[in-house]
This record gives sequence, structure tokens and C-alpha cells, in this order.
Amino acid sequence: MVKKMFYNWKSWWTAHRNRNYFVFKLAVSVLVVGIAFRLLYGRSLEISPVSDNPFLETTQISIPPVVSVNSQEENAHQIALQGYGKTSSENGKKCDLFTGNWIPNAAGPIYTNNSCSFIEEHQNCLKNGRPDTRYLYWRWKPRGCDLPRFDPGRFLDLMRNKSWALIGDSISRNHVQSLLCMLSTVEQAVEVYHDENYKFRRWVFPSHNFTVSVIWSPFLAEAAIFEDMNGVSSSEIELQLDRLDKNWTEQYKNWDYMIFSSGKWFVKAAIYYENNTILGCHYCPKLNVTELGIEFAYRTVIRNVFKYIIASKHKGMIFYRTSTPDHFENGEWFSGGVCERKVPAKEGEFKLNELNKILRAVELEEFEKASSKASENGVTLKLFDVNPLSLLRPDGHPGPYRFFQPFAKDKNAKVIIDCLHWCLPGPIDSWNDLLMEMIKSS
Ligand SMILES: *[C@@H]1O[C@H](CO)[C@@H](O)[C@H](O)[C@H]1NC(C)=O
Ligand SMILES: *[C@@H]1O[C@H](CO)[C@@H](O)[C@H](O)[C@H]1NC(C)=O
Ligand SMILES: *[C@@H]1O[C@H](CO)[C@@H](O)[C@H](O)[C@H]1NC(C)=O
Ligand SMILES: *[C@@H]1O[C@H](CO)[C@@H](O)[C@H](O)[C@H]1NC(C)=O
Ligand SMILES: *[C@@H]1O[C@H](CO)[C@@H](O)[C@H](O)[C@H]1NC(C)=O
Ligand SMILES: *[C@@H]1O[C@H](CO)[C@@H](O)[C@H](O)[C@H]1NC(C)=O
Repeated sequence: MVKKMFYNWKSWWTAHRNRNYFVFKLAVSVLVVGIAFRLLYGRSLEISPVSDNPFLETTQISIPPVVSVNSQEENAHQIALQGYGKTSSENGKKCDLFTGNWIPNAAGPIYTNNSCSFIEEHQNCLKNGRPDTRYLYWRWKPRGCDLPRFDPGRFLDLMRNKSWALIGDSISRNHVQSLLCMLSTVEQAVEVYHDENYKFRRWVFPSHNFTVSVIWSPFLAEAAIFEDMNGVSSSEIELQLDRLDKNWTEQYKNWDYMIFSSGKWFVKAAIYYENNTILGCHYCPKLNVTELGIEFAYRTVIRNVFKYIIASKHKGMIFYRTSTPDHFENGEWFSGGVCERKVPAKEGEFKLNELNKILRAVELEEFEKASSKASENGVTLKLFDVNPLSLLRPDGHPGPYRFFQPFAKDKNAKVIIDCLHWCLPGPIDSWNDLLMEMIKSS
């Protein structure tokens, strides 16, 4: 079932850091919200408050059709997948950790905007002046059981002599910071490594001999990315569909726990290679190359990742985290979309957009196929399905408070709105409640 959809898109984005203004030259797919990563991805993107009006230039370009997801099929997968996050509840029945709702939690977060030094400026919403705080007072309640709060002391004790790696894109970085903040209420993490651009980092909790790494691998596969420090792309990404990124495979055997994730980077213009030969591309109108589409590339890479994991016979625990949705309302990130909600959404209020549906279908289908093979091979592979619970938290993003005091000089200042990453503290902290529960019950 192929539904034809055409979108206007393609973006060039230039941020002149020193002169402190942005020049946008865009025409972006409604679908391609994920390209916001280009804007939002860098720690290095330390641009001071932007109050200059970015200008938008939109051009209509049609791109090849995107195969839409058959929703019946998707439902079938949902049903087939129920049970991957199961844990025991008090009455002995199994409970799906990832189905539930957000309930009020008067206790609030265990760390604050100024007690944790690991929070990236762009996600330190309170420090940046976000005025409302209700979004901090919720916890995830799985249907049919109670999810205990993350216990940093207990977690550190369980992790003595162990190592973790979070492997993926800027959402993985967002998550590692949440984990470090929560653990640092018990023992301060010490950074022991970072690369030049702070994309690969490692911390140690010395008295527990516990190591946490974050690995920048937005495609999980080998990719040449032609973007400068400001996220300005000078050429299509060259993605090797059949080669995994050595930046994680070379260290794979050393980690006891891993969380893999990918997703949004696959929307970017890319040339796909297999066996060093061009196979096709996604959005390359200037080249005489077959459009293969996001779904094809994503599925190929995710499948290869699982193949590698299954073949590894690794004794550790491997989590596959589903990708998370964004919450731009009344527009997209480039067309005035905002996320101004103050409380969680009700179930069904937000639907995944077409892009997120495509990604999710691939993730669930490929995980399902990999899961039984993994257990046959003695590999512990778990689905960390944070997508549905994240969909209910449109209130948890920085929005304009990605920047420090964005409206201090001008109440109507036009700033980049981030409805994709999560405020810290914020809803992403609950991911650690879930991880703890999954580790305890395994
Ligand atoms: C955030 O930090 C500021 C100081 O930087 C402090 O005054 C405020 O109480 C903190 N907010 C919360 C909710 O912890
Ligand atoms: C951690 O490693 C040290 C040194 O190898 C060892 O003495 C200790 O028993 C280990 N602790 C655990 C919980 O594995
Ligand atoms: C720390 O843990 C590693 C295993 O991850 C172990 O080889 C090493 O001996 C431990 N060191 C100490 C000081 O316990
Ligand atoms: C892997 O790391 C190397 C060196 O840090 C870097 O040049 C390369 O681009 C990285 N690969 C990806 C896919 O980011
Ligand atoms: C890969 O390409 C080489 C030539 O560059 C060829 O000899 C080989 O058969 C190819 N392998 C596959 C699996 O297609
Ligand atoms: C594009 O490639 C096809 C086959 O590879 C070729 O027949 C066609 O002439 C090419 N078109 C252009 C404009 O180069």
C-alpha cells in the first residue's frame, strides 16, 4: 500500500556564531522535522541568546513518495510486542511497563537545575528562564503495577565494576545527562575522557568503579557527515549501509550494558553505499541516483545492528531504545511550531506523524524478528520502548528556553524552538526508573 506524499523541503542553515545571527534558507518537508537535529545537535553550538529574526525562505520542491505505514499492520505488531517490557506486579501478574499514564508526583525530581553540573545549557530549562514548573511533578505509572522511583544508591551498588554505554544521537546524550544527574546525588561522576567535540565522553564513579560512556553514532552505521560545527551541511551524507560504525563496534565487547538508538538522522539527504558502491540515495535531486527512501536505509541498518548483536554472543545486557517523537504544534520547527503545554497529554491526544510512524514500524518489526534469535544465542536483548510514554509529554521540551533568557530583551523575540529534546530535570528522568526496574527484574 503506497500512499503518495509530496513535501516541500530541504534546508540550508547557517549560523554565524561570531556575528550572532542566523540565516535560514529553507524549504523543509513537513515530514522532515527531524532535520531539527541539524539545528539542535551540537554541544559545540554555543550561540548566545538569539534575538535577531531568523528569516525563512521556503521553496517548493517535490521529493519522491514515501511509503506510508499500514496502520493495521502496525497494530498487529503492537499486539505482538506486548510483553517485552513485562515485570512482576504485587499480585504476581505480569505488567507491561510501557503502557500506562503519567500521574502527579508531589516529590518532584531528585536533582535540580543548579545541583547538577552535567546538564547541557540547551536543556537546562529552569536556568534558562522557563517560568512554569508543573512539568516536573509527574511520574510514569504503568497500567497494572507500580514503578518504583530510581534509587541511585542501589543502582550504583548493582553496577559495581560495570560499564554502560549509551549509543546514538543527541537524545542519547540527553539521556546520559539525566542518568549522571540522578546518580550524582549519591556519588559525583568524574569525567575521564572526551573527544575534541564532546561527542564521545566517559565518566567514572570512582568509589563504585562504575563507568558510563556516551557514544556519538547517529546512524549506528559508518557515515561521513559533511557538516561544520554549526551544523551547516556542505554535501550529502555518505552512509555505508553494510558497515556498522566502528566507533561503537570496536568497544562493544568491553561494555556490560548498552542502550542503542537511532532514527531522526535518517531523514537527512544521504547517498547510500553498499560494498563501496553507490546503491541509491535519499533526497539527491542533483545526482542521477535512485531514491531509496528513509525506510529502506533505516531497516537495512537496524537489521545489521541486530545481526551483529545476535552474532556477538555478548554476555551483557543490551537495550534497544525506540526513537522518540517531537511535539511541534501549530506548525513545524521552521514554520512557527511551538510546544507550550504545561501538563502531559491524554492518551490519544497526540498521534505520531508520518516520519515517526515509519521509524517506529521499522523498529518494532526488526526488534521482533531479532528478539527470538537473540535469546536462542544467549544474548540478552530488551526493548526499551520509551516512545509511547514520551508521546504523552509535550510539556517536557525546552521550547524557546533552549537559550538563556530568550525574551529578556524583546518579549516577541524569534528564537529557535526545541520541541524534541527534553528539559533536565524532566520527563526523560523517568527512563531511568524504567531501566532500574528492567535490570532488577532480569
Ligand atoms: C533553579 O535554580 C535557581 C538558581 O539557579 C533556583 O533559584 C531555583 O529554585 C531552581 N529551581 C528549581 C525548581 O529547582
Ligand atoms: C570489583 O572488582 C574488585 C577488584 O577486581 C573485586 O575485588 C570486587 O570483588 C569486585 N566487586 C564486585 C561486586 O564484583
Ligand atoms: C574495576 O572493574 C573492572 C571490571 O570492569 C575490573 O577489571 C577492575 O579490577 C576493577 N577495579 C577495581 C579497582 O576494583
Ligand atoms: C567515528 O569517529 C571518527 C573519529 O572520531 C570520526 O572521524 C567518524 O566520523 C566517526 N564516525 C561517525 C559515523 O560519526
Ligand atoms: C564487492 O565489490 C567487489 C569489487 O569491488 C567484488 O569483487 C565483490 O564480489 C563484491 N562483494 C559483494 C558481496 O557484492
Ligand atoms: C542516469 O542514469 C541512467 C542509467 O544509469 C542513464 O541511462 C541516464 O542517461 C542517466 N541520466 C543522466 C541525466 O545522466
